Amino acid sequence: MTGTELGFELDGEPIAFRAGQSVGAALVASGRLSWRTTRVEGRPRGIFCGIGICFDCLVVVDGRPNQRACLVAARDGMRVATQTGTGWTP
Ligand code: FES
Repeated sequence: MTGTELGFELDGEPIAFRAGQSVGAALVASGRLSWRTTRVEGRPRGIFCGIGICFDCLVVVDGRPNQRACLVAARDGMRVATQTGTGWTP
């Protein structure tokens, strides 16, 4: 991520994106299909509806859990993390 490239981090790994993409779109474009696990059974989830209804795409954005990746606009330098369960730590 140098020069005019736009990028954010997912668990410390660089993810490039185009202006106007959502975090979810950038993750799918990078080849990732899942980035969170369900609360009870730990099953993998990623984009499902793509329009903010199903909540399958939750991620932690700049320390804030439960952000819908399909709705959050990607911003240069943001820190995104995969989410486990509720995303809150006791
Ligand atoms: S994919 Fe359904 S809320 Fe994001």
